[in-house]
Amino acid sequence: MNTSTENPLRAGLDDERLAPASAIVIFGASGDLTRRKLVPALYHLQLARMLAPGSAIVGFARKESSHDEFRKEQREATAQFSRSKPVDAEAWASFEPSLSYVHGTFDEPAAYARLREHLESVDATFGTRGNRLFYFATPPEFFSVIAKQLKAAGLIAEASDRGRFTRVIVEKPFGTNLESSRALDRALHEVIDESQIYRIDHYLGKEAVQNVLAFRFGNAIFEPLWRREYIDHVQITVAEEIGIEGRGKFYEGAGATRDIIQNHLFQLLMLVAMEPPSAFDADAVRDEKVKVLRALRPMHRDRIAELTARGQYGRGTLGGGLLPAYREEKDVHPDSRTETYAAMRVEIENWRWQGVPFYVRTGKRLTRRVSEIAVRFRGIPVALFGRSQAETAPNELVLRIQPDEGITLRFAAKQPGSHMLLRDVNMDFRYGATWGRTSADAYERLILDALLGDATLFARDDEVDEAWRYVSPIIDAWNEMPAPSFPNYAAGTWGPASAEALVERDGRRWRRP
Ligand SMILES: NC(=O)c1ccc[n+]([C@@H]2O[C@H](COP(=O)([O-])OP(=O)(O)OC[C@H]3O[C@@H](n4cnc5c(N)ncnc54)[C@H](OP(=O)(O)O)[C@@H]3O)[C@@H](O)[C@H]2O)c1
Repeated sequence: MNTSTENPLRAGLDDERLAPASAIVIFGASGDLTRRKLVPALYHLQLARMLAPGSAIVGFARKESSHDEFRKEQREATAQFSRSKPVDAEAWASFEPSLSYVHGTFDEPAAYARLREHLESVDATFGTRGNRLFYFATPPEFFSVIAKQLKAAGLIAEASDRGRFTRVIVEKPFGTNLESSRALDRALHEVIDESQIYRIDHYLGKEAVQNVLAFRFGNAIFEPLWRREYIDHVQITVAEEIGIEGRGKFYEGAGATRDIIQNHLFQLLMLVAMEPPSAFDADAVRDEKVKVLRALRPMHRDRIAELTARGQYGRGTLGGGLLPAYREEKDVHPDSRTETYAAMRVEIENWRWQGVPFYVRTGKRLTRRVSEIAVRFRGIPVALFGRSQAETAPNELVLRIQPDEGITLRFAAKQPGSHMLLRDVNMDFRYGATWGRTSADAYERLILDALLGDATLFARDDEVDEAWRYVSPIIDAWNEMPAPSFPNYAAGTWGPASAEALVERDGRRWRRP
């Protein structure tokens, strides 16, 4: 019996993939991420019967709170943020007893002694058998502190322990530059093996992102074309309509490059540019991904101004409403130099991609929310159909990540009539229309994978390191160069003129999705 057809909440979650019972300990359990994403995702896994009976969820945070208060807060949050509303009373009633709470500060050994005691009682009353998934949903400065304290409290089992597992999910940001990311790796590796670390990048949990792999390596027709001989260039866009949503303190120290390019956008770049892996497993996939980053041509300092563009939004209008400038947002310095937009021309020096530019861009307060990979093929060698053909553009394949997940292939077709008139048309695949159901949230898939010990969709240390090795010198150079006169684009537009110039210098244009 295929239960996934009966229970739409199992969409995207394979029946065979039942996670073993484990204690899932969330550090930062009173925070925004827990409330908005983690507990709703765990609730959905429970609803879809993907969490093994006997699993337990333990919240850990600073404020004093009883188990019941924690359950009540999480129920309210799930009612607000769950992807299926309203909360199913029966399902919640069976989920709720698995939630419990331990309070303490992250650097307080006594709190970890309490946690240890609590986990021992969880092992005895649930079926968790010493399996632990620690989720670091905390500000990044605490990642290494928590790991050390867990080790000191004897809460980390060796990777070689076959009787039980300890795994750690680490949230982003993983460092703020090459140095801090390496320091964090060193601190984590002192107490836990790399094979036990799951660096989350929620983009990899998205169906449409995984579909890049399915599209490329599950079909024979495109792969022969997926190379310099046939592809003119690639554009990767992660555009946001929203601003910084009150997170000025965080964003001032981050900016668009750290927030999006180093992680999410480079994940897309790796998936679209990697060689076929020898198997679909964590090592084989990540080995090929990291080779892409190793092949990136470092940007010479003298060329950074020419090969990158940065921007910051000023006041503007969107959807009829007047929007403030970035510098007018809460907790933002009135002379802030933080970029809310970044674009780069990235080159991959290998046999497949030599000479094919990858233009990447991201920004806040742009015209539309859209994440996509657009692959532009080379034009035809000879125009047989005269003037009408001049109105068609070269073939383009667009992998839409969000919203409206799907794939579109543009090609020229004959218009009906007695003349040979050509026009561009689209072949279109839409997730929603094809599968008739909404995808599971990225966090559901990723938490499940971590419980199953499948790290394929998590970032490995060398990937993160290579990504920082590429972007850190760019950020450093920007800091030393005279700042562009910010703000340099209006909220609600497609970004600064310098980004247009970046592609126009190569005789190309950005897509307007
Ligand atoms: N929010 C999102 O949508 C989102 C998205 C992607 C990534 N992330 C990442 O996820 C992580 C958490 O983000 P968030 O937005 O959930 O943060 P948040 O709302 O500020 O929550 C932080 C949590 O850490 C706890 N905490 C802070 N200092 C502590 C200490 N010294 N001892 C014990 N507990 C302490 C807080 O407990 P108290 O409330 O008791 O102080 C709270 O539970 C960050 O790394 C962030 O970058 C968040």
